Amino acid sequence: MKLWGGRFTKATDKLVEEYTASIQFDQQLWREDITGSLAHVSMLGKCGIIGEDEASAIADGLKKVAAMIEAGDVEFNVENEDVHMNVERLLLEQVGAVGGKLHTGRSRNDQVATDMHLYLRARVVEIVDLVAKVQEALLEQAQANTDTILPGYTHLQRAQPILFAHHLMAYYSMLQRDAERLMDSWKRINVLPLGAGALAGTTFPINREYVAELLKFDAVYTNSLDAVSDRDFIVEFLSNASLLMAHLSRLCEELILWMSDEFDFVELDDAFCTGSSIMPQKKNPDVAELVRGKTGRVYGNLIGLLTVLKGLPLAYNKDMQEDKEGMFDTVATLHGALSLFAPMIRTMKVKKDNMRQAVAQDFSNATDLADYLVGKGLPFRQAHEVVGKSVLYCIEQGKYLLDLSLDEYKQFSELFEADIYTALDPENVVNARNVLGGTAKNQVEIQVANASVSLTHTQQWVEEHLQRIDVHLL
Ligand code: ARG
Repeated sequence: MKLWGGRFTKATDKLVEEYTASIQFDQQLWREDITGSLAHVSMLGKCGIIGEDEASAIADGLKKVAAMIEAGDVEFNVENEDVHMNVERLLLEQVGAVGGKLHTGRSRNDQVATDMHLYLRARVVEIVDLVAKVQEALLEQAQANTDTILPGYTHLQRAQPILFAHHLMAYYSMLQRDAERLMDSWKRINVLPLGAGALAGTTFPINREYVAELLKFDAVYTNSLDAVSDRDFIVEFLSNASLLMAHLSRLCEELILWMSDEFDFVELDDAFCTGSSIMPQKKNPDVAELVRGKTGRVYGNLIGLLTVLKGLPLAYNKDMQEDKEGMFDTVATLHGALSLFAPMIRTMKVKKDNMRQAVAQDFSNATDLADYLVGKGLPFRQAHEVVGKSVLYCIEQGKYLLDLSLDEYKQFSELFEADIYTALDPENVVNARNVLGGTAKNQVEIQVANASVSLTHTQQWVEEHLQRIDVHLL
């Protein structure tokens, strides 16, 4: 007999049972589900909607059910469709008919939404913590590389020399925005739907604020239809996750390039690479490749849910059960990627000499030669032309700008003097970009110092929010 079986005269088709069930994947919400039920039943007792003795019998039963699930003594089944009805059935087995009073003034619609809010608010705190750990690793590598010069690229063509620390801090900044977005989203996750009932509220004199207080929600949904229909908080999470994965994926792409023989700028630690079953020489950056690859499924999960929601009439529709797998998958994907990323970055060997060597054999100081002429009064456009011709000459001669003699320079402009060699030196080229946000060493040191402060703020946020989700009903 189904919990909702009264109106039916026939058993559910077996395939329909399989098809409509969500227990296969929503069973991981059992803790949230029981926690929500404990708060609900405590409120029912306090408000006199059921007897205090009945409330405590139900609460004891729920705790027993939790202990049984924890111990692995429970087999969930599709006959009971989802985690909510599986738990309710287990409760009835424990406490008998009084267990049937738990669902008073509640629907699975506000119940499932509550479970999802409880689940996601905790995951977001964990994920922010993991993002901060990656930022910490980037910061450490940046601190160790404030003297490491490499070519910066545009169009994947060498452009201007930069500090490796500057490059790493660009990723730090991206992850900082990701962390900030996740932290900001938290206030929209930490809102309680319970009490909305199926869609319209309930006839019982419930106390939603009390439930919110027990579950440490900061607010309650103020419209019952919205409470049970809203999945914005999941879309927002999937969107934040997508952008985060995009950033990790871009860094992965660079790590993969840098580890190739063609660049040879870094070596990822053996512990974070794998070999080939046929080519004995291979050491492949598989982790970076997989993180780049898994970005696809995270985007897919976002587009999937947006598409599920598009065109759904208010309020609950069974389509919304499709909100779960993509969210669970995204949480697991982020956990996997971020947990590996921090140690992979921390243990990465930076081949400083190869980076420096690359800058000695390119034209990434050409802009500085033009800027030099501008300093001597030549308009920038003309300076650009003069240096373009000098570069072409170098290419023909098989030389670089620092190889040309002053006489050779004079063929292109009388304004060149012996001090060009200092102006073209890579250290000076880097340190000349002494503007806010530029690659000059002292500017990068300012970035690093500010980053340490923002990292501390994030870590404090994590600590504070771990407290704010610390609910002890179970
Ligand atoms: N398993 C359902 C879900 O995940 C729970 C809500 C079911 N509500 C309903 N009215 N059928 O969405």
